[in-house]
Amino acid sequence: MENRKIVILTGAGMSAESGISTFRDSDGLWEHYPVQQVASIEGYEENPELVLNFYNARRKELLNVKPNHGHLMVAALEKYFNVTVITQNVDNLHERAGSSHVIHLHGELMKATSTRNPNDPSCIEELTPERCEIHLGDKAADGSQLRPYIVWFGESVPKFEEAVNEASTADIFIIIGTSMQVYPAAGLIRYIRPDTQVYLIDPKEVKVYSSQRVHTIRKGASEGMDELLKILLNC
Ligand code: OAD
Repeated sequence: MENRKIVILTGAGMSAESGISTFRDSDGLWEHYPVQQVASIEGYEENPELVLNFYNARRKELLNVKPNHGHLMVAALEKYFNVTVITQNVDNLHERAGSSHVIHLHGELMKATSTRNPNDPSCIEELTPERCEIHLGDKAADGSQLRPYIVWFGESVPKFEEAVNEASTADIFIIIGTSMQVYPAAGLIRYIRPDTQVYLIDPKEVKVYSSQRVHTIRKGASEGMDELLKILLNC
């Protein structure tokens, strides 16, 4: 293994080939569920039951899908490089594919936390396939209503500083399957060093605001990762 450091920023497109809908593509999740209702702190305060049910359904969906070839290739990079994955995805497909260092910027679907103290580690608990639903009346360790461990619009992103530390020490920065429209995640690229190589895998054109040259691979995550692996391993 060489000691070059790779940091990979992933979004919903990473899991698309596993069968999980993206958010902003046509027929994406936000076309069917108003984002303000199901993914904002105001939406949760207004109608907690609707939001709990939305994430209960997302969790059931997650239990029925598997990591795709792209996830496996991201994990395979660890054979050759020092790799950190920073994901906006709340699924656990990177971990299930074998990635060992994953930072979840927007939370984790298979965890629950307290409505009163969502970022208090003593209130964060794992959900299991057998107990994967949260209902009104379920209590967190501090006695308040249990809620999904998801960072909603209108909330702070507690893992952002850790992600910045990773991005700023990357030799190679790879962006996969994100429309780069949601901040602060999309702003991570501003923290990379001027000599960091940047690659982007996405079947559609994505605008990236960076002074660095971005090597774009206009393909889906699986095919794109195969191509990138060849480039990175010079074969
Ligand atoms: P988007 O839905 O905004 O973008 C998905 C990206 O994936 C687009 O650029 C697609 O072209 C691309 N894509 C589609 N199929 C792909 C494939 N097979 N392989 C690779 N790429 C593909 O999703 P995100 O950018 O992840 O936050 O959205 C960011 C955040 O907005 C999410 O984490 C979520 C959402 O609101 C919260 O819910 C807090």
